[in-house]
Amino acid sequence: MRKLAAIILAAGKSTRMKSRISKVLHPLAGRSLISYPIEAARTIGARPLFVVTGPDHGELKLAVKGMGAQIVYQKEALGTAHAVLQAKRVLSKFSGHVLILCGDAPLIRAETLKTFIEEMAQEDATCAVLTMELKDPASYGRIIRDLDGRLARIVEACDANGNELSVREVNTGIFCVEKKWLMTTLKRIKPKNRKQEYYLTDIVHYAICEGKKIIAVKARDANEFLGVNTRSDLAEVAAIMRERINMRHMLSGVGILNPRESYIDADVIIGADTTIWPNTFILGKTVVGGGCTIENGVVLKDAKVADKVHLKSYSVIEGSAIDEKAVVGPFSRIRPESLIGPNARVGNFVEIKKTELNEGAKANHLTYLGDAYIGARVNVGCGTITCNYDGAKKHRTIIEEGAFIGSDTQFVAPVKIGKGATIGAGSTITLDVPPKALALTRTPQVIVKNWKPKRRAKGRD
Ligand code: UD1
Ligand code: CA
Repeated sequence: MRKLAAIILAAGKSTRMKSRISKVLHPLAGRSLISYPIEAARTIGARPLFVVTGPDHGELKLAVKGMGAQIVYQKEALGTAHAVLQAKRVLSKFSGHVLILCGDAPLIRAETLKTFIEEMAQEDATCAVLTMELKDPASYGRIIRDLDGRLARIVEACDANGNELSVREVNTGIFCVEKKWLMTTLKRIKPKNRKQEYYLTDIVHYAICEGKKIIAVKARDANEFLGVNTRSDLAEVAAIMRERINMRHMLSGVGILNPRESYIDADVIIGADTTIWPNTFILGKTVVGGGCTIENGVVLKDAKVADKVHLKSYSVIEGSAIDEKAVVGPFSRIRPESLIGPNARVGNFVEIKKTELNEGAKANHLTYLGDAYIGARVNVGCGTITCNYDGAKKHRTIIEEGAFIGSDTQFVAPVKIGKGATIGAGSTITLDVPPKALALTRTPQVIVKNWKPKRRAKGRD
């Protein structure tokens, strides 16, 4: 086929989601619903891409622009034919075929569209509709064929008689039509039906009357056309999407112990021989290397994880990078803009924010490191805290390589600890410490001998 444009319909009222945001902007595996049909159309080379929407969706306009598509407004949702007709002006200079998709059906695969388009080109058809066979055809438009099996009509369920209702082949809502004929024909369609809407499906009638070649192509997998109308539809579609994503990773060598219980967003990249335990969330633009272990309860969002990293149970890592062979968790929290160096170790109940923990450094227990630079091989003792906030501003703590930080130390930032310095346990460090020095702020221990008997003698006990 020479040229292909796409129109994605999304102007219908989506009241059943009970949501303040546009239905097609609801998230599915880390992207919006509308991004999927746009992406599928783009993959098969459709250009330009248009999304038809209602007038009150400013945020949708922005989102769609970012995906390389343009918005066309339909002031009132008067039906699918009326919706497509709104793109007449923006397509005035375009000649070729127009692919029509639904914005709320995100499971459509590019390969399916490609086969559909190829079949149409082979048959040299003016108009083609993609159909599917359903056990329960519910409210879908029924595909009525003549005795020779050729498409005769599409009847909406609400307008169908008993015989027609029993037909299980239905309209997926996906069409491909020669543009010039499409736009001329749409103008002739009248809202003469029970819903008093302008039905796109009525183009079938005109094609047949005018002797134009029209074909109905049956798709193999009906799941691809599941539309999202309710939150429960969204959950059903998300489960299918999850299965697809996880299958793709497994086929490329990722071990997923229970694919139904790992939630991996569409754009995530994972290397081979990484093993993922159940109840894990790998979200956004996260990239995970090969040979890693991601234990149960781990949440990764926009994280960059190198090879052979071990993320132990219930660790949360957001907007940060973890270098090769580092071990994090269990129960660690790595907040944005942090870097955990190669072979570094972050243990239980450690919170790290905007901090660089360099090669081989360790913060194993009950620690907060914020706005800090921790040099290579530094050992951060249990209960260490960077006091990075003075109530108005954030300040940095710098600990140079090889320093040893005794347990229960507070660093009142800004403060700098030199290479190889030692901080005695229980210190509150407010001044810089030179390299190799010992700093200690502990008050001397007092021993009062026989204190308890003396106290009793004074009658205090
Ligand atoms: C439509 C088809 C039906 C098909 C089904 C598949 C018609 C008349 N019927 O029915 O044969 O089986 O889709 O899902 O075409 N939309 C607009 N503007 C409008 C009306 C709808 O943009 O004025 C959009 C909707 O947002 C949706 C799509 O078009 O993305 C389909 O509309 P919907 O109301 O869901 O049509 P159905 O009645 O389900
Ligand atoms: Ca629908």
